[in-house]
Amino acid sequence: MTDRLYIFDTTLRDGEQSPGCSMNLEEKLRVAQALAQLGVDVIEAGFPMASPGDFEAVRQIAERVQGPTIAGLARAHPKDIESAARALEPAAQARIHTFIATSPIHMQAKLRMTPDEVLERAVEAVKLARSLAPEVEFSAEDAGRTDMDFLCRVVEATIAAGARVINIPDTVGYTTPQEFGARIRELIERVPNSDQAIFSVHCHNDLGLAVANSLAAVENGARQVECTINGLGERAGNASLEEIVMILRTRRDRYDIETGIDTTKIVPTSKLVSQITGMPVQPNKAIVGANAFAHEAGIHQDGVLKHHETYEIMTPESVGWTTNRMVLGKHSGRAALKARYAELGVELDKEELDAAFERFKELADKKKEVFDEDLLALLDEGAAAGEERIRLVSLHVASGTKDTPVAAVELEVNGEMLKATSEGDGPVDAAFKAINSLVEPNGKLLLYAVNAITAGTDAQGEVTVRLADGDRIVNGQGKDTDIVVASAKALIAALNKLPDMHARGEHPQYSGV
Ligand code: KIV
Ligand code: ZN
Repeated sequence: MTDRLYIFDTTLRDGEQSPGCSMNLEEKLRVAQALAQLGVDVIEAGFPMASPGDFEAVRQIAERVQGPTIAGLARAHPKDIESAARALEPAAQARIHTFIATSPIHMQAKLRMTPDEVLERAVEAVKLARSLAPEVEFSAEDAGRTDMDFLCRVVEATIAAGARVINIPDTVGYTTPQEFGARIRELIERVPNSDQAIFSVHCHNDLGLAVANSLAAVENGARQVECTINGLGERAGNASLEEIVMILRTRRDRYDIETGIDTTKIVPTSKLVSQITGMPVQPNKAIVGANAFAHEAGIHQDGVLKHHETYEIMTPESVGWTTNRMVLGKHSGRAALKARYAELGVELDKEELDAAFERFKELADKKKEVFDEDLLALLDEGAAAGEERIRLVSLHVASGTKDTPVAAVELEVNGEMLKATSEGDGPVDAAFKAINSLVEPNGKLLLYAVNAITAGTDAQGEVTVRLADGDRIVNGQGKDTDIVVASAKALIAALNKLPDMHARGEHPQYSGV
């Protein structure tokens, strides 16, 4: 009989922890709804104790997102566990995910606890969590570098205390596939009560091995994988959901294991997460990169036209790349827009539809063909509107082969109208200088990237701007058929995030217990 692998998505927790990827409540809800439509088994919605914003996000997701189990992260500490339990109260299926580090370096340098103290704390945490939630997952943080005998003791004791999922994280992405697979097998074989738990893995990608390590674990008995859309996550990220799912599906001959994922929703979900976080997907990224199915060499094109399996091991349609993406134009009505959004997995209430329709009409006036990507981008703009401290009122730029580029910008900053003009090394540089002369703080520009959302010279340009303000990093995205306007919008979106970042909560892995 075919086995089932549970997909635990941590885009909203580990993914959101990566620099510049923080999302607001409305954005988290949209991602959570998309994950539910994608068919993930568990959504780790956040770390409720980290901040009131994280708590509220977990609570709202627990209340409004149907289908998957909703998990909340908690350190092995009563306050964290109680906070997670409160946030998860409205969920139809809730899971408290509690963790403590078990490697020598983490226990000594970070926790300053002995192994016995850690073991005791882990057991107490699981018991408390079990008294407050129907499902408990326990993670031995940095299990990849944990002494095997000690890890076996911790796993046995936490299963006995009531954990039904035991997660083995390779927190620092240190292990190799053979090593990690053997670790999972040894745990399952040596721990006497291992049959009472599902073994899970959570691999980081510091050496580019997160997916390989996760698969090695699956080959050796793990039946839950923790992963993220586009491989987002701390540092080099987590194992990428789309790669794991498509490997299992494409190589069914090797892995007789199924997931509950609707693979045709992979690309739309990837695009949504990229647009919301402002974290672009590299073009040659497996499955979801823009070039993943692009055949450039003539010999390859010829082969694919004769038989697609010559150079394609899966079809672009099977992961949600659609060939016919032209959906709407300026004569399309409200009902068609609502229906297309529903097909993209986005349900809009009347007010949201009215706002989206207004922006859609404006765009359709500038652009003959409105694609799915454009529609998703419109939602993003809508989400950003209304909560802005800085708003772009107007922008005028002049540039050419002989003239010095100059930009005149008008902003509304905290309700006050401000104007500035500036020259620059190009129209974008001039616009940035003019905007920066009007606001504080400016942050340091770390990244400026431009991408065309769809094909054609009338395509909307999507600009990503990354700024650093001290140790805070924020991303902003802007879209427009005029890339200088898109650039100004992206800079303003990033600037708008700077003050909010002061309220960021605790980081689960560096804040000790
Ligand atoms: O990487 C890690 O160890 C984690 C745990 C909290 C599961 O993210
Ligand atoms: Zn992690």
